[in-house]
Amino acid sequence: SHRIMLGPLVAAIDQGTSSTRFLVFNSKTAELLSHHQVEIKQSFPKEGWVEEDPKEILQSVYECMERTCEKLTQLNIDISNIKAIGVTNQRETTLVWDKETGEPLYNAIVWLDLRTQSTVERLINKTPGRNKNHLKHKTGLPISTYFSAVKLRWLMDNVDEVHKAVVSRRAMFGTVDSWLIWCLTGGKSGGVHCTDVTNASRTMLFNIHTMDWDPELCKYFGIPMEILPRVRSSSEIYGLMKICSSRKSGALSGIPISGCLGDQSAALVGQMCFQDGQAKNTYGTGCFLLRNTGVKPVMSEHGLLTTVAYKLGRDKPACYALEGSVAIAGAVVRWLQDNLGIIGSSEELEKLAASVGTSYGCYFVPAFSGLYAPYWEPSARGIICGLTQFTNKSHLAFAALEAVCFQTREILDAMNQDSGIPLTQLQVDGGMTSNKLLMQLQADILCIPVVKPSMPETTALGAAMAAGAAEGVSVWSLNPEDLSEVTSEKFEPQINPEESEFRYARWKKAVEKSMNWET
Ligand code: G3P
Repeated sequence: SHRIMLGPLVAAIDQGTSSTRFLVFNSKTAELLSHHQVEIKQSFPKEGWVEEDPKEILQSVYECMERTCEKLTQLNIDISNIKAIGVTNQRETTLVWDKETGEPLYNAIVWLDLRTQSTVERLINKTPGRNKNHLKHKTGLPISTYFSAVKLRWLMDNVDEVHKAVVSRRAMFGTVDSWLIWCLTGGKSGGVHCTDVTNASRTMLFNIHTMDWDPELCKYFGIPMEILPRVRSSSEIYGLMKICSSRKSGALSGIPISGCLGDQSAALVGQMCFQDGQAKNTYGTGCFLLRNTGVKPVMSEHGLLTTVAYKLGRDKPACYALEGSVAIAGAVVRWLQDNLGIIGSSEELEKLAASVGTSYGCYFVPAFSGLYAPYWEPSARGIICGLTQFTNKSHLAFAALEAVCFQTREILDAMNQDSGIPLTQLQVDGGMTSNKLLMQLQADILCIPVVKPSMPETTALGAAMAAGAAEGVSVWSLNPEDLSEVTSEKFEPQINPEESEFRYARWKKAVEKSMNWET
């Protein structure tokens, strides 16, 4: 058969909280040639706990790679054209495995998990002035349940196998990127144990100024440094794919894994936000607004995080970002579907909400995992208020969409205050951006235009670009003429600012209540 000549291809594994994807791009045009997606099960074994199965995560990656390879073959595209593979992932989610058996020693503790709330409260109470920002000068982060260090500490204290493996020097810690790269480069027979600077910067063990693990932080959390992965840049060859030839994805063996970025950093790269001041907001399970601050880490005065944005090569400088993290965005849709059963799919939510076009004074604060930025309040819990006999499920659906927009507004306000230069429009991406009502509401509530690229897989594109760069394959050229050809969709604000402010003020009241409902 005739193979289509396309030139070099680049691929990405995108392992998110709710699903895994494998995607293959044409490096010349950044066109998405083929992909496959698999949902990931989350378990909630106790109130506030969120876990995933590391083996299911790995298996989902194999499945996505296999199916994508099959699709490429059907398209007559030669798999050997794939020159580099990037990994991008849900950040902070914490795993420990045994390097001799290759077996995970517990489920992955997902970033949203609240089991460490009392530990976090105890740690904060011990700091001078009960200051949750006690470690911020080094890490850029507040002490919170969100980051890996406290989850890892919990595993060492509560899981016998983990404790034993640490003592007998068989334990390896990693976030999802490390787990995948280790497994895909050979696992117990020579797998590479590494992470990149962006993922490392979410553990609370990493010093964002020295760009290395910090002995004092490790001591503070009681973490032995030998279980940590080696920290590398976001774009260099970590190792080669080593897949058993009996697997259908065996054809990918030998391809370098040469890009690694936390998913929010990857989206920043995929949206081409390389200039100081450029920003993007990604609507996934959570919602994350990152603004590039260039080579200088900027410390927030308004509850945002300082994080490593990317370091695209061993000898390239690290760039930083201010980040506003919202824990619950897409997760509220899943909750309406799985826990309340008022919708059968996420597409139904838009229809339901659009059928009323208003929440009728109903406000829904989905603080299921406490509140993240700008509050960092682990004891907050979800509330729905403003109900009347008139309220129905459509109003609730609308209130859920509005909640995502109001949370983004809070982050944007903080970001504008910190940087002093207000954003004049918001670049967005992620699964929820296919919801047009949500996008319009977002523009209305921010009072600035919302701009969405036509290729929604910006996270994967960013990781593929980083991987390509290390292998001398530049994905797309970054000259402004090419950029102007990027088609996008723009949503302009349609309601008047007073109406917008009124609703936002009500939202703020609801947030107050979600933080104080117990007292
Ligand atoms: O910090 C968590 C974040 O990386 C998860 O992203 O897309 O799975 O919501 P997402």
